[in-house]
Amino acid sequence: MSSNAESKIAELKAQLKQLNIEYSKIKDIPAEQRADFGKKLNLEKQKLMAEIAAAEEAAAEVDVEALDITAPCDINGEMPEFLAADSGSKHPLMTELDRVADIYRSMGFDVVESRQLDDEFHMFDSLNFAPGHPARDNFDTFRTEEGYIPPAHTSTMQNRVLQRFKYKLDQGENIAVAIPGRVYRNEDLDATHEHTFYQCEGVYVSKDCTLGNMLGILREFFEKYYGQKLNIATQPGYFPFTEPSLEFKIEKPACIGGKKGDFLEMLGCGMIHPNVLKQAGIDPTKYQGFAWGGGIDRLVMLRYQLSDVRFFESAKLDFLKEFSC
Ligand code: DAH
Repeated sequence: MSSNAESKIAELKAQLKQLNIEYSKIKDIPAEQRADFGKKLNLEKQKLMAEIAAAEEAAAEVDVEALDITAPCDINGEMPEFLAADSGSKHPLMTELDRVADIYRSMGFDVVESRQLDDEFHMFDSLNFAPGHPARDNFDTFRTEEGYIPPAHTSTMQNRVLQRFKYKLDQGENIAVAIPGRVYRNEDLDATHEHTFYQCEGVYVSKDCTLGNMLGILREFFEKYYGQKLNIATQPGYFPFTEPSLEFKIEKPACIGGKKGDFLEMLGCGMIHPNVLKQAGIDPTKYQGFAWGGGIDRLVMLRYQLSDVRFFESAKLDFLKEFSC
């Protein structure tokens, strides 16, 4: 607390003490004046107490504001010297995100980055989550005091990219967008679960695309990423924003110790639900689409045979140096 605030509060408290002494004079005052005298004192006491409370509150707020935990240094002090630009390296996840985006670009996709703060509409309503539906619980993440949501998946971007690129449909082209981004989950942390990680979403819409086309695109992507032919498999899944919904798997490549039939779940996918298209102003009787979304961290862990997802956010230099070039 600043010394100014402290002395103001001390002064107000001294006035209050003085006022309390005044109360003892009531008995010396003629009976007919006592009521007025008492009322006046009560009013003054209330006013003083309110002033003290306000001053204490203001002083407490000043204390909190002075601490800017996001500041990398004392913003009022001398600026520290910057580290030499050649002494750092790109975080391995960023390198891999670029690789992922490049593969999608080479397949004709637009690439749009997702947001790190979103809202109820994009997180739930635009994705056909019925109010109160239990499926919401799986994606129940964090909220800011203002009600914004650090998104639990990149699917929050579906409505935005559908709206942004629907002009392509009018021009007789297809919508094909990949959306890499950071996501947040309220997880119990262990070697395969992290509260902060990366996903990449894919959204494709045309007049007549099918699940078969989607599996072809996904196989192509994974084969390019791992640089080899892969066996793929699917199993039924459930997401409110796709119908039907699938889990997509790849057989673990032999070069990293995979055995026949050793399938790993890589992402969720399906045909975009008509309500999701409608919400974005696209007529589901004329167009159909498919979408998918999966974790980048898992993709990268498999590529480099990493044992613990928490390394990525750990800032462990030993780990990061293994990837620096
Ligand atoms: N957003 C889902 C998740 O994080 C994955 C997903 C499933 C994305 C189906 C999609 C989809 O686009 O169509 O679990």
